[in-house]
Amino acid sequence: MSLVNLRSPVRPAPSKPSLAGAARPASAPRRAKDPHAADGPLVEVADASVVMGGRTVWSTVSASVAPGEFVAILGPNGVGKSTLLKACLGLIPLASGRVRLLGRAPGGANAEVGYLPQRRSFDASLRVRGLDVVRLGLDGDRWGLPLPGRRSREAAATVARLVELVGAGAYAHRPVGQLSGGEQQRLLIAQALARGPRLLMLDEPLDSLDLPNQAAVAGLISRICRDEGVAVMMVAHDVNPILGYLDRVIYLGQGGAVSGTPDEVITSDTLSRLYGTPIEVLTASDGRLVVVGQPEAPAQHTDRHGDR
Ligand SMILES: Nc1ncnc2c1ncn2[C@@H]1O[C@H](COP(=O)(O)OP(=O)(O)O)[C@@H](O)[C@H]1O
Ligand SMILES: [Mg+2]
Repeated sequence: MSLVNLRSPVRPAPSKPSLAGAARPASAPRRAKDPHAADGPLVEVADASVVMGGRTVWSTVSASVAPGEFVAILGPNGVGKSTLLKACLGLIPLASGRVRLLGRAPGGANAEVGYLPQRRSFDASLRVRGLDVVRLGLDGDRWGLPLPGRRSREAAATVARLVELVGAGAYAHRPVGQLSGGEQQRLLIAQALARGPRLLMLDEPLDSLDLPNQAAVAGLISRICRDEGVAVMMVAHDVNPILGYLDRVIYLGQGGAVSGTPDEVITSDTLSRLYGTPIEVLTASDGRLVVVGQPEAPAQHTDRHGDR
């Protein structure tokens, strides 16, 4: 199945100022003079396919993310949502097609992207403090090596701003293994923001959070996108917590992908065409969407949480 791009993804970059006080998420300046970075899409996937273990995970996928956009990657377990992020980052090779990330070949711009892989949680006995988790995003490649005084003070100030930005001040000094899932997730988002990326790639950041925390973390991600101008490409199993914030969705099926606004894509017609089987999208009285009849990938039937 080929891509049905229901709407042009391009919209102007947000013009709002940064959050007051806490301002930019990192001291690292945006790379404004990067000739590749101009105003083109941050992510471009063109007619791409991925084969793993001899099986085509997806094919004929085209997708894009423009500066400042909040885009969700949706679809059932095992359809290849995590694989799409990894292919963009060059962690998994394409079997065909093309990917550009920040105008460069996969792997060429990863240092300028904040990537939060899919995960479970920190081990409860982990003694590393929340602050240290954030700090790892800044200098993880030279962790443990002393920085000269001025740079050390700058790094501490950046970590403090990030902790404030994600609202983690009350617990950032505690061992991260003892924090709740929502608290850990906020600190990991701060870590992903540490180098001032133009794009955040988040893989199911709401997974395993309770509903109030899902709403709070979704709101935080939306604020980062809107107020800090950081584009977000986020994998979600359930669209509802982020539905009101999204500019566009990329819905993955094993045949391909459909992208457009949530209203355009998450409909019985569009999803039935994508999956080649009748699918019903119901709207609950509170506005939540329920997708009925969506097939899961065969490999996931016996092991829903197999590849996290
Ligand atoms: N290393 C691997 N080797 C072979 N198959 C894999 C590998 N990793 C993932 N897969 C398979 O690729 C498919 C897509 O996986 P994934 O991208 O994790 O799906 P999702 O994130 O949508 O749940 C699944 O069927 C999964 O079993
Ligand atoms: Mg996944």
